[in-house]
Amino acid sequence: MWTSLAYAAALLAAGSHAAPLEQRTTMTSSQLSTFTMFSQYAGAAYCYDNVHKNGKMNCSSEGGSCPLVESAGATVIHAFQAGSSKTLGYVATDSKNKLIVVAIQGTQIWSNPIDIITDADLLQVKSDLCGSANSHDGCLVHKGFYGSMKDAATVVVPTVQAAAKENPSYRVVVTGHSLGGAVSALLGTTLRNLGMTVDMYTFGQPKLGNADISNYIQSQSPSKGNNYRVTHFNDVVPQLPEHTWGNNAWDHYYPEFWINKDQGTVSTSDMKVVDATLFSKAGNEGTNSAFSLVGELFEGGVAAHGLYFGKISGCSSKAPFPPSAASSSGKAS
Ligand SMILES: *[C@@H]1O[C@H](CO)[C@@H](O)[C@H](O)[C@H]1NC(C)=O
Repeated sequence: MWTSLAYAAALLAAGSHAAPLEQRTTMTSSQLSTFTMFSQYAGAAYCYDNVHKNGKMNCSSEGGSCPLVESAGATVIHAFQAGSSKTLGYVATDSKNKLIVVAIQGTQIWSNPIDIITDADLLQVKSDLCGSANSHDGCLVHKGFYGSMKDAATVVVPTVQAAAKENPSYRVVVTGHSLGGAVSALLGTTLRNLGMTVDMYTFGQPKLGNADISNYIQSQSPSKGNNYRVTHFNDVVPQLPEHTWGNNAWDHYYPEFWINKDQGTVSTSDMKVVDATLFSKAGNEGTNSAFSLVGELFEGGVAAHGLYFGKISGCSSKAPFPPSAASSSGKAS
């Protein structure tokens, strides 16, 4: 969707923050139900069993809530903890909704909340994700997310390819919350680059790289699958890293599906579809979080980052504590 003229204009507008484009409210109740279902698939990746053993998915047994996943009889066909990043996730099939779902676990709220703003993870590395469309910056992505994605891909790519062959009518969806959202979006990009059609549903996803990768992911939709990047009210995590941190140009792909309501049940009129340009201050990006980053993450899931159509990271009863001391629990970066 980016013409080179629009791209140049966006770059010129950078620094003075491009004016927010129209905020549409176009979501139907059926789309809202679909978002709710995938938020539950993303949340289910916080449940210990779903990312440690294959079989029927269950969140309620660990204090979480994924009734739409449980009632669909979704089955994990490959639970994994991949590579040196120990990235946790699962590949599941859902015969009711005809889906192959890949989900990546986000950072456990209490483990390493400031990962995304600390140390080497803030570095950007050149990636090969954008193919030849890396004219601006070499397709720079967040080093930590990229490493996690590559670890996960070793498991996910062959598993999804086999599952898709067995179930040719199923749609492939990648999803995740927080850091898991960023990693799952890069994973979706990788699967698309291998020729698959993949829908991406991310919730509270931090920025994953800068201009080339954002434009590239945007350009893949809808021909290679749809992009649904969901943010909630004044959640601070999608605002990070800030646009200019580390002398880089961190950015998001659009549109953004912004839940413009702090607490309570979300209805279609609370959803704003935000079309924007590079370095936009529209949607969530234009809000001020009620909490500092650390405060937000330690708020225990009642602050904006923890609420995506319900409490998204409710599973915790089986998670080792402290997670950082246990190799079996992980962080997504
Ligand atoms: C999930 O686990 C709980 C507790 O073990 C059990 O009561 C419930 O029936 C399970 N739900 C599904 C859908 O299997």
